[in-house]
Amino acid sequence: MNVLLGVTGSVAAYKSAVIASSLVKKGHRVKTVMTDAATEFIAPLTFKSLTGQRVYKDSFSPDYDKDHTALSVWADIIIVAPLTANTAAKITAGIADNLLLSVILDFTGPVFMAPAMHENMWNNAATVKNFTVLRERGVHIYNPEKGALAGLKTGVGRMISPEDIIIKTTDILKKDYPELLNAKKR
Ligand SMILES: Cc1cc2nc3c(=O)[nH]c(=O)nc-3n(C[C@H](O)[C@H](O)[C@H](O)COP(=O)(O)O)c2cc1C
Repeated sequence: MNVLLGVTGSVAAYKSAVIASSLVKKGHRVKTVMTDAATEFIAPLTFKSLTGQRVYKDSFSPDYDKDHTALSVWADIIIVAPLTANTAAKITAGIADNLLLSVILDFTGPVFMAPAMHENMWNNAATVKNFTVLRERGVHIYNPEKGALAGLKTGVGRMISPEDIIIKTTDILKKDYPELLNAKKR
């Protein structure tokens, strides 16, 4: 299966390396698309090393015209982990001002998202509305859990573990999209 892993600017971004590594160990091909903010938290080279694939981060690289639709055609599924409040809001509004957003807007397959943010951001009426809309559109949202957050605070907002993201995604795929799990598309 071809997995497009979207990584956004949360302190939880380091955990997405574990997701990338686990997916590769399970035999899936993983291409990573990072927002500019995500690259402040974890180096693209980490994902390149773990996946053996190019890492995409700049919408305006010379091959951009080819890449954003090529990536959405390539992908069988998209996992965005961690997902920031900012990117969730932009997806909800249909904004496509970076490569990850453009690919998501262009993609017609199943999308899985693991938000991570401070408790107040998660409970903010704007965020609640955004995630309600995303769920209504069929996006699979893995609600964050209670735990330590950035700034040494504790609350609801911590991204669920990489292991749980893999388990939940596999369960949904087995049930609703069994053909994708063993897809051999290149
Ligand atoms: C140390 C630090 C940690 C952050 N953690 C989060 C987070 O967990 N969730 C979130 O929604 N925003 C977080 N932010 C804010 C985002 O990085 C910011 O909104 C950024 O514009 C997101 O861009 P992106 O959605 O394009 O990745 C954090 C910022 C900093 C400086």
